[in-house]
Amino acid sequence: MQLKAGGGGGSSALILFSIIGILNAEIFESYDSQKASSSSVNERSKDGILTDVGESGAPEEGNIEAQLQLEQIRVSKPLGEVSAVAIDSSGNLIAFHRGDRIWDKDSFTDDFKMSSSLDAIKNSTIFVIEPSTGKVLAEHGENEFYMPHGMTIDSKGNLWVTDIGRHQVIKLCGKTFKPILILGEKLVPGDDETHFCQPTDVAVSADGQFIFIADGYCNARIMKFDSNGTFIEEFGNPPETMPAKNGEFFIPHSIALIEDLNLLCVADRENQRIQCFSAGLSQGHRQTSPTGMFVTKAENIGRVYAIREKRHYLVGITGSTEDSESVEPQIFVMDMDTGKAETYAKGLEGHALAVDTNGNVFIAQMHPNQILRMQL
Ligand SMILES: *[C@@H]1O[C@H](CO)[C@@H](O)[C@H](O)[C@H]1NC(C)=O
Ligand SMILES: *[C@@H]1O[C@H](CO)[C@@H](O)[C@H](O)[C@H]1NC(C)=O
Repeated sequence: MQLKAGGGGGSSALILFSIIGILNAEIFESYDSQKASSSSVNERSKDGILTDVGESGAPEEGNIEAQLQLEQIRVSKPLGEVSAVAIDSSGNLIAFHRGDRIWDKDSFTDDFKMSSSLDAIKNSTIFVIEPSTGKVLAEHGENEFYMPHGMTIDSKGNLWVTDIGRHQVIKLCGKTFKPILILGEKLVPGDDETHFCQPTDVAVSADGQFIFIADGYCNARIMKFDSNGTFIEEFGNPPETMPAKNGEFFIPHSIALIEDLNLLCVADRENQRIQCFSAGLSQGHRQTSPTGMFVTKAENIGRVYAIREKRHYLVGITGSTEDSESVEPQIFVMDMDTGKAETYAKGLEGHALAVDTNGNVFIAQMHPNQILRMQL
């Protein structure tokens, strides 16, 4: 089933569809979770997220049927390729998009540099959107970005964006949208401590102490920085042989922290899996475990474009593959306490996602360039 939402400005953007959900994949290898207590389960159901997810064992074919609502956000201004979405502290939807720039075969040289014929995108690339109406409340990021990619909002409301054309990661003030911190050298790809090669995504610990960066399309590593942007350490390598071993990445495209499990999960896109590692977060002033130790993974789940965590659930979206044998694109949810996973919708692709506190999932898509909302 291939889902197409709305007709770009059609009168009804609401689509109802049913799913028969099965994650056609191996489920996370089980691992000891000190935090997997019954109280955390109860807390979650109170919050209303995923209340219909059974606690009674792995999903079996055909036993989950749900009516999901999928809706196109009718954004009041034209969107370019929507590379990322996030929810700010006021509940507004932030979109990071490419304006009139399109990533095609001429965008980059063979050595990953931005084509010299391309300047910064003139359009505003950051929209602050009222999610229920789609009204663009504010626009930012004109003449600043070359090829927008990832975005995350930290607990203090700062925006962290990655630009694969600039080869940089930029921390923007959530009020003024002005840069506060810039990592990497502008337009210069590299693989040392002060350069990235097309960095894809950022995760920031809730205390702001640690910044994780997925780097990226042309490197195969996860880098860890302190709050001032000083390099701490990195882990990961490109695959030496196929199938890739643990800790080897083939386009780490998205990352998510599960803080109380001290885990950093990586959407290892072209290896069609999620791998999770110890994040090496500190408790008090003491680092409790090393960074980058392999902990668990979910394999053969399709090309995972994006993962985001909400209350111990890891929500992910995959894209299609050329290979018709492979897994159909899907949105899935994994319970990080139990390792159980479920498919929520099949045939739905996206480049990035965001989850709000009410369990709405916002999906950023390209061609058509649009944002969908789905209620979990
Ligand atoms: C980008 O800016 C151009 C020139 O102002 C405008 O025509 C176009 O609609 C904008 N496109 C997007 C997607 O923002
Ligand atoms: C970051 O810089 C500030 C100001 O220079 C300094 O006080 C603070 O200790 C630094 N933090 C880290 C983690 O190095």
